[in-house]
Amino acid sequence: MEHQELPTPPVLSGAKPGLGHLIEFGRNRAGLLLRGLEEQGRIFTVKLGPQNVAVLIGPEYHRTFFMETDKSLNIGTPYKFLRASFGEVFFMAGHDEYVRQKPFVTQAFRREKMVRYIEVMDREVQKWLDTLGDAGEFEIVGTMSRLAQEVAGHALMGERFQEEAGREFWDLYQDLTQGLDPILPPNLPLPKFWRRDRARARMLAILQPILDERRAHPDDYDDFLQDFVNSRYTDTQESIEDDVLLNLMLGLMFAGHETTAGQAAWNVILLLQHPEYLQRVLAEIEAFAPYGEPVTGKTLHALTHLGYAVTETERLRPSADMLLRDVDEAIDIGGYHIPAGWKVQVAGEVAHRLPDVFAEPDFYDPLRYAPGREEDKSDRFALIGFGGGVHKCTGMNFANNEISVITTLLLQQFDLELVTQRPDVARGTGANRPTPTIIRYLRKPQLEKEKVAAPAAAGCPVH
Ligand code: HEM
Repeated sequence: MEHQELPTPPVLSGAKPGLGHLIEFGRNRAGLLLRGLEEQGRIFTVKLGPQNVAVLIGPEYHRTFFMETDKSLNIGTPYKFLRASFGEVFFMAGHDEYVRQKPFVTQAFRREKMVRYIEVMDREVQKWLDTLGDAGEFEIVGTMSRLAQEVAGHALMGERFQEEAGREFWDLYQDLTQGLDPILPPNLPLPKFWRRDRARARMLAILQPILDERRAHPDDYDDFLQDFVNSRYTDTQESIEDDVLLNLMLGLMFAGHETTAGQAAWNVILLLQHPEYLQRVLAEIEAFAPYGEPVTGKTLHALTHLGYAVTETERLRPSADMLLRDVDEAIDIGGYHIPAGWKVQVAGEVAHRLPDVFAEPDFYDPLRYAPGREEDKSDRFALIGFGGGVHKCTGMNFANNEISVITTLLLQQFDLELVTQRPDVARGTGANRPTPTIIRYLRKPQLEKEKVAAPAAAGCPVH
């Protein structure tokens, strides 16, 4: 069939003249997409003002979304609002620059580098736990955010970064992220944009002397930042320009901390909401992660039930709940035609609950990833919490390791109880996270821990 004979995807009901679904999208975007799925099926159109957005739900359509990226579909243009905060680097600088810069980023996350990052995670998480005292309460969302900043600062920028840059750097991130606006032109004379520009200028000024020192004494350092500083473009053999490097570091620290913090908080919350499964994780921690010994990659590898829990968190509470592309060249998909000029969107939060992909999808059941079931392996585009294809998250292992180290050390040393029983999902322009959630803790008498038996697991609804 010729392109033009196919219809465009059906428009979801409730579009208002001029505004389309903009208001409903702003108020409850997950609800809007769920409504679309129920009403129209797995491909439908949402109208955001005059913009047509084709929503694609399910692994076979995710495949087109991810495999057509950098071909018919463009990842750079929908995210161009990030440029004002993080500069014009990586995929925001266009495909050719992305291809030139990608090797620096991937080499810094190679498997052998992870050993050192896990050491950093172990040390930073333990430092935080040592401040807790024997009993008390903490709010996990803000706490995870600060902890993820400490880990990202130390692992990506070096051991002395916190001393060199201090809290000022991370406080400035607030202004940088609050200036993210996918709709308004980024140079409008608004206070939030002025604050964003001031913060960005100050952050670059904080980073520049650190970079100068690294360039002057490259042999004194062996870490993530130094790998970047030492890197050379493969085509010209020139080293990375200062502005590219600084922008990449700003972007990586952004990509790496809010998302991780959100899923780390949910991982702990979901375990506490499911005490039977928690018992399995506790038993495993007792067996393989004894108090006083550093948590290493080998330890994490042994904690299989914790690993399943981390994946279940990605499925049920993805920090990055929806991903967008601009349609540069028309595509045909699922019997529909999506013209150039449209946007396409995938939404993990909705797609991760398709019952033909994940059995009883509203139930928290990490054992769905255990041998014999392995629901995540049914299709490589079934789980998309970290994206897919060429642009799949470079920091996925880093993030999952960090979430695992946090959960392990916390559960190893404390008995925890949810004071806020049923947190909700807080959505923003950045990453999704739980609404503020208080956790009560009591330090365990370390050497007298009782053996925790692992009872049979049973799924239970998430909400
Ligand atoms: C739980 C934590 C994280 C989540 C949920 C997450 C999610 C994602 C997603 C969904 C994408 C793909 C975006 C798209 O296709 O439109 C992505 C890309 C990316 N993420 Fe993450 N991320 C996390 C942690 C991290 C960390 C810790 C880092 C680095 C320190 C990082 C660095 C990146 C980079 C560099 C890309 C772009 C890859 C490319 O375009 O080639 N992320 N992330």
